[in-house]
Amino acid sequence: MPIERMIKKIHIDALRVGMFVDRYGSGSFDSPLAMFQRIVRDNNEVRMLRRSGVDWIYIDTDKGVDVHESMGTYARKVAFSDEVSVAAKLYRHTLNHVHEVFARIKDGGDFNHHDSEDVVEGLVESVHRNDAAGICLTQLRGRDDYTYTHSVNVGLLSVVFGVSLGLEHAEVIRLGLAGIYHDIGKLRLPNEIIAKPGRLTPSEYRIAQTHALEGYRIMAEQADIHPDLLSAVAEHHERYDGSGYPRAIHGAGLNRFARLLSVVDVFDALTSDRPYAKAKTPSEAFRVMYSARGKSFEPQYVERFIKAMGIYPPGSFVRLNTGSYGVVCGSNSAQPLRPQVKVVYDRKLRQCQSEVLDLSDFNTAQNDKVEITEALDPGEYRIDIMRLLS
Ligand SMILES: [Fe+2]
Repeated sequence: MPIERMIKKIHIDALRVGMFVDRYGSGSFDSPLAMFQRIVRDNNEVRMLRRSGVDWIYIDTDKGVDVHESMGTYARKVAFSDEVSVAAKLYRHTLNHVHEVFARIKDGGDFNHHDSEDVVEGLVESVHRNDAAGICLTQLRGRDDYTYTHSVNVGLLSVVFGVSLGLEHAEVIRLGLAGIYHDIGKLRLPNEIIAKPGRLTPSEYRIAQTHALEGYRIMAEQADIHPDLLSAVAEHHERYDGSGYPRAIHGAGLNRFARLLSVVDVFDALTSDRPYAKAKTPSEAFRVMYSARGKSFEPQYVERFIKAMGIYPPGSFVRLNTGSYGVVCGSNSAQPLRPQVKVVYDRKLRQCQSEVLDLSDFNTAQNDKVEITEALDPGEYRIDIMRLLS
């Protein structure tokens, strides 16, 4: 899955919503609505181009979706405002499920990871309906224990990532399960280490590191466990350049699911409040991770993850250049700096008539002049993102 700035020649039959039309190839073109240098926005435009007499077109896969890529923003079947409440229920259900399973494991009881497949299936369906809703929920920093919310967030964001990469359905489910179970070995660590309010000492850190192998041991006892799921749990702290643990495996020697999972895991960790570090905004986390591509992470996976999430992921609280404040409620993989924003406060932080602006829709109003200037920490503003979105 190489991601390079690329112009591709494709047959008109392969054209679909979300592609960026760079120019036309062979064939005549007699439609009055020229469609150069922009995204194909809906199926009417696809039909119009197919009828127009163009045989071949050139698409820019850096600015729009590729032939085998998920259609992301442009294929959303359900409006964000409709999906967000359904996704919130699924999120709570997943959190309860994780609480139950982890409690059983802590007590040394039996569990069957296949029982989590239905839960992950629900997340996959939600992501297919509207991925922005699920992403948004992972951005809300709840009051629940980090171990549980982190497991659910990594599970859900792994699903988002897998769908965006166009993985097969069974692989997306497996990646989601890996997200939920990746830190399961922590349940066997002493609580003083897991819940220590502050940095770990070198010897405590060595103990904490055993959770990867411990997680592998727990999962290896499961019946019919897929080898990729097992490797993802065992290798989620391995790093692309061999600087990880427990085995310092590097590059292609690392399981593909582990390479994908490590990107999601680090993103959620960096954007969460932890005992020794304040949460970063997603854009700060992306900056850190982007500079670690090729070192900690497989370069293309960091880039693809950022593309799937958007520079300002749904759920981000942002200030616009108009002075107003809003919440991101949709992403745009072709123009990651220009997502959909629900404007909720005026420049004096007074609640205003809410309005959704699609910053990538240059045909509407003066949206081309509206830009995001800053991502803010909603906690500092005492903002309840969920209330503003519902
Ligand atoms: Fe971990």
